[in-house]
Amino acid sequence: MSADVLLRGGTVLDQQGRRRADVLVVDGLVASVGEALAAPAGAVVLDAGGCLVAPGLVDLHAHLRQPGMEEAETVATASRAAALGGYTAVVAMPNTDPPVDSASVVRDVVELAAGACCDVRPAGAITRGRAGTELAPMAEMAALGVRLFTDDGAGVQDSGLMRRALEYASALGITLAQHCEDAGLAGGGQLHEGAWSSRMGIPGMPAAAEEVMLARDLALVRLTGAPMHFLHLSTEGSVALVRAAKAAGLPVTAEAAPHHFTLTAACAASYDPVFKVNPPLRDDTDVEAVKAGLADGTLDAIATDHAPHPQEAKERAFEAAPPGMLGLETTLSLALGELDLPPEKVLALLSWHPAAIARLDDHGGPVAEGRPANLCVIDPDATWVVDPDRLASRSRNTPYAGRRLTGKVRHTLLRGEPVVVDGEARR
Ligand code: DOR
Repeated sequence: MSADVLLRGGTVLDQQGRRRADVLVVDGLVASVGEALAAPAGAVVLDAGGCLVAPGLVDLHAHLRQPGMEEAETVATASRAAALGGYTAVVAMPNTDPPVDSASVVRDVVELAAGACCDVRPAGAITRGRAGTELAPMAEMAALGVRLFTDDGAGVQDSGLMRRALEYASALGITLAQHCEDAGLAGGGQLHEGAWSSRMGIPGMPAAAEEVMLARDLALVRLTGAPMHFLHLSTEGSVALVRAAKAAGLPVTAEAAPHHFTLTAACAASYDPVFKVNPPLRDDTDVEAVKAGLADGTLDAIATDHAPHPQEAKERAFEAAPPGMLGLETTLSLALGELDLPPEKVLALLSWHPAAIARLDDHGGPVAEGRPANLCVIDPDATWVVDPDRLASRSRNTPYAGRRLTGKVRHTLLRGEPVVVDGEARR
């Protein structure tokens, strides 16, 4: 058992509100929350002065790249980056090599994650090999505790197959998560189709490529009654579709990635592939719609879509480089700094809402006696400058290099163990 920990002098912030309190952790559980708690003999005392003590963050969408793409990232490096970013749990996307489309690969990822700095929950693929033609054995993966299934990186194109997947998911009590991209409409586009794609002479991907699949899936949710989660929505039209679907009572949830509320297609004007991502960076009107969707509850969660790529891949020409951006170490600061939302709302989007979507009972608070001590301590006023060479990720493809951000994780506790102390990883 790890030593007792006292988080001293902070402000606890969870779904029950805000209060000045110390938090004592014993045997991995929150033992008491109250003012001026005494430290038991031998306890580690961590300063939380000026900080928010919150449930650990939960990422619904991170590419950890293992097995098979270790030159970009490993479970160990990604989970260290996650803990430094305030996360105590991440859902690992299945587009690895081999993809997570069977019980044996689920077991491999779970094994790789033993001793990691955060809990790693593999998502399973909906179709075998993520090829979109045949359903993956979702029951055998669900039996191992997998709760989210997605072919992320690609959308399931065949509507009949998607209907069957939803019916199957309903019976298994799992949730399907869609990467909304109609392949025909996307048509090899490398950038948002609009003023910048024409100016730059790069084939564009229209907003409709995302919206057509989202609209189809909303119809399939209506048909089957199965719940569904929508990954990294990025357009004004998508936000409007989800808003209407929720108003109609459909059992859907949705997330946005930080780059879709902080960056636009104009960033790619330099042809630097660090700004290439899928779905692509969009227009100002889309950014405003995503922000509004996060503010009014249309979008339930912020997910990093952490997508590491090796430097040499991101040094190719724009059209040849792979899409994706790092996210685990910058998302909290971007959300605190760029959304004009109070911290309680930001933490709902980053912690307890995603924990509920992923059905992670041990994460997402509240900070209360008897609960597992999966916690992060955030200094909301600390500023820092993003230096790609100092990130814990094995890759460096952050689009925020040199940007000064506000809000930083001071400590992270995983089941009571300090895995980040004073901004430094301990594992
Ligand atoms: O930009 C992206 N990168 N979008 C995806 O859907 C997949 C991801 C990756 O795996 O690199």
